[in-house]
Amino acid sequence: MTRTRSRGAGAGRAALALAGAGAVAAAAAHVWSRHIEIHRFTVREHELRILPPGTRPVRILHLSDAHLMPDQARKIAFLRHLETLKPHLVIDTGDNIASAASIPVLADAIDPLLHRPGAFAMGSNDMFAPHRKNPLRYFLRDPRPEGFTKRHREPDLPLDSLRNALTSHGWKDLTNTRASLRLTGLQVDLVGVDDPHLERDVFPAPDAARGAQQDAGADGTGRTPAAEAAATSTRADDGPAADVPHLRIGVAHAPYQRVLDAFVDDGAQLIFAGHTHGGQLRMPGVGALVTNCDLPRAQARGLSTWRGVPLNVSGGLGANPYSNFRFANPPEATLLTLRPQRR
Ligand SMILES: [Fe+2]
Repeated sequence: MTRTRSRGAGAGRAALALAGAGAVAAAAAHVWSRHIEIHRFTVREHELRILPPGTRPVRILHLSDAHLMPDQARKIAFLRHLETLKPHLVIDTGDNIASAASIPVLADAIDPLLHRPGAFAMGSNDMFAPHRKNPLRYFLRDPRPEGFTKRHREPDLPLDSLRNALTSHGWKDLTNTRASLRLTGLQVDLVGVDDPHLERDVFPAPDAARGAQQDAGADGTGRTPAAEAAATSTRADDGPAADVPHLRIGVAHAPYQRVLDAFVDDGAQLIFAGHTHGGQLRMPGVGALVTNCDLPRAQARGLSTWRGVPLNVSGGLGANPYSNFRFANPPEATLLTLRPQRR
């Protein structure tokens, strides 16, 4: 009898100790993810040899999912710092803001980048103000009937103000359209879609490319005079577009498989997307648990391929302010250096 009671008391103490250790670990993980990891801004760098032989290297800065609030001083400072990377091209895959008041703050923080050649696709958080959500919903089946969001919701954030800010110095708006721009010795042909997560994507028709190129202006840049002056070091001094190699790039916020397939079928040589936040909470040794779309979890963050085409999914610069935490997944921008293929 005595032995039995002793075992029971020992098991109880062990369970209490285990529960206590679990609570301490959970509290530490919460403090880390909410107050430390979320500020560990990082530049992830890769090199890709996909340019035609003889082409000069091209640095592409990929931004995504800033979910910026006006009081996020460290994120704003990091955005300003990115100009020091001197990218030839900036690709922004959306979810830039988390409030209307964030738009002028964002525009000021990335102003030097806006003066460089760039292009963007919008995300749902550029259109709709954030609200509190049950984090478990990411593990559940999407309850929305097909087409619901497209049919029934109008943006409640000032989308046109954001669009005007991003295009103010010549960035291309790739909302269900194509555009082209010239870098030194290279013509970049871009195709983009509106946010697939909201089922707003309508893939542009192939013949739209000609109209977009004409629309971009006689020299194919489509930049304002200010951007033209600022981009002198990266723009072409070559002959007409037909005389230089082309690089075809697909851009979307959410990397749904139907959109990635459409980019590949369209001839994309490089694809950019965001939306996943790299899984936001990653398990060491396991990686992302969710992607919030139908992309495989192994591709939730970083450089991979889709049907043989390089795909860069940004882990993102932030998160919804109501779930502003990240674990084993520092906020990031990506710098891709494209180099010529080896002969
Ligand atoms: Fe996002």
